[in-house]
Amino acid sequence: MPTNTAAWIPARNRPLEVGPAPYTAPGPDEIVVRTHAVAINPLDWVIQVAGRVAYSWLAYPFVLGADLAGEVVEVGTAVTRFRPGDRVLALSAGTDRDANSAAQGAFQQYTVALERLASPIPADLPYTDAAVLPLGLSTAACALFQTGHLGLRHPAADSAPTGETVLVWGGATSVGSNAVQLAVAAGYEVVTTASPHNAGWLTELGASHVLDYRSPTAEKDMIEILRGRTLAGALAIGPGSARACIRIAGASRGNRVVSAATAPVTFENGFSLPRTVAGMLGGGAGMVAAALRHGVRVKFVIGSDLKKNEVGPAIFRDFLPAALAEGRYRALPAASVVGSSLSDIQHAMDLQRKGVSAAKLVVTL
Ligand SMILES: NC(=O)c1ccc[n+]([C@@H]2O[C@H](COP(=O)([O-])OP(=O)(O)OC[C@H]3O[C@@H](n4cnc5c(N)ncnc54)[C@H](OP(=O)(O)O)[C@@H]3O)[C@@H](O)[C@H]2O)c1
Repeated sequence: MPTNTAAWIPARNRPLEVGPAPYTAPGPDEIVVRTHAVAINPLDWVIQVAGRVAYSWLAYPFVLGADLAGEVVEVGTAVTRFRPGDRVLALSAGTDRDANSAAQGAFQQYTVALERLASPIPADLPYTDAAVLPLGLSTAACALFQTGHLGLRHPAADSAPTGETVLVWGGATSVGSNAVQLAVAAGYEVVTTASPHNAGWLTELGASHVLDYRSPTAEKDMIEILRGRTLAGALAIGPGSARACIRIAGASRGNRVVSAATAPVTFENGFSLPRTVAGMLGGGAGMVAAALRHGVRVKFVIGSDLKKNEVGPAIFRDFLPAALAEGRYRALPAASVVGSSLSDIQHAMDLQRKGVSAAKLVVTL
């Protein structure tokens, strides 16, 4: 049995510590991956900073990390899609309440992953690039395709145009760059927002309009673009995005649904209980009130929910492997490798917390 090492978070609000970890054999519908690259998500440092309210159920010491790519070393008895030696990417959902499993955290050498949250990757796709995808892809897919969210038609190799338009507010985020690609692949026109320096590559991905979300006229301009079009729904990503999308959807014709990815409270500047409670009550309630006022349905997305429904296999099994192999899907935002060992992950999380622009911070293991 291999020896394993993890970057442990020993308790809430503590820095990661590298140390031995058990090697866990896969359950029937699981695989074990020798992780070669992990990517950092806001979720990782949010849990570290605000563990009293964010994922408060976690049993510490814990292993964080949602995004990984590596080589399969063992498969469960019910797994037919993978075998040892396969190159894969996988979403680690160990922080989910129903998992609460350190064995499923990405920040270790040997990680247990659910078969249905893993995809084979092409031989020419480096692990460092593949690792950027899982949580951004999964969150975008949950928002766009799940019933109860936008409920869009699924992506395919040759989707006929639907004649409808999806608004992705925050297209240069990790979630956004996946949402733009998925919606285009499903046959929707996509309008989005980003800083002007990110407009070029978002247009290359298929976005028809890219507005600067900092412009004071961004909302008005977006409403103007959508006039005469049929809205298929909006995905709100980034601070302030939910309110903007609610107002835009409320002024548009079509499916007036907003799927919100960003929580009403942010923790870049640390955790304060009064500020968090005020933000949750004010921000959350304010969002619901605004939605009611504008005749819009708004729902917060949980990025791993597709493991419970048909969207998981539709993306990780039926769409992504062929789309990557045929060059129809790009691993974005571009990987920026900022470390080469488990002991570099804390630094990478600190860098992510300071903010990135269209970049996914990656550490090789
Ligand atoms: N609910 C879930 O399950 C779930 C899962 C994953 C992520 N999230 C949340 O989704 C958000 C994005 O996460 P991520 O990992 O995709 O982010 P990320 O890649 O770290 O986002 C960085 C990008 O955010 C963009 N941005 C900053 N402020 C913005 C604003 N006000 N409006 C629109 N875009 C803005 C910037 O775009 P420019 O460079 O163009 O300025 C930057 O490129 C975070 O709030 C995260 O917590 C939620």
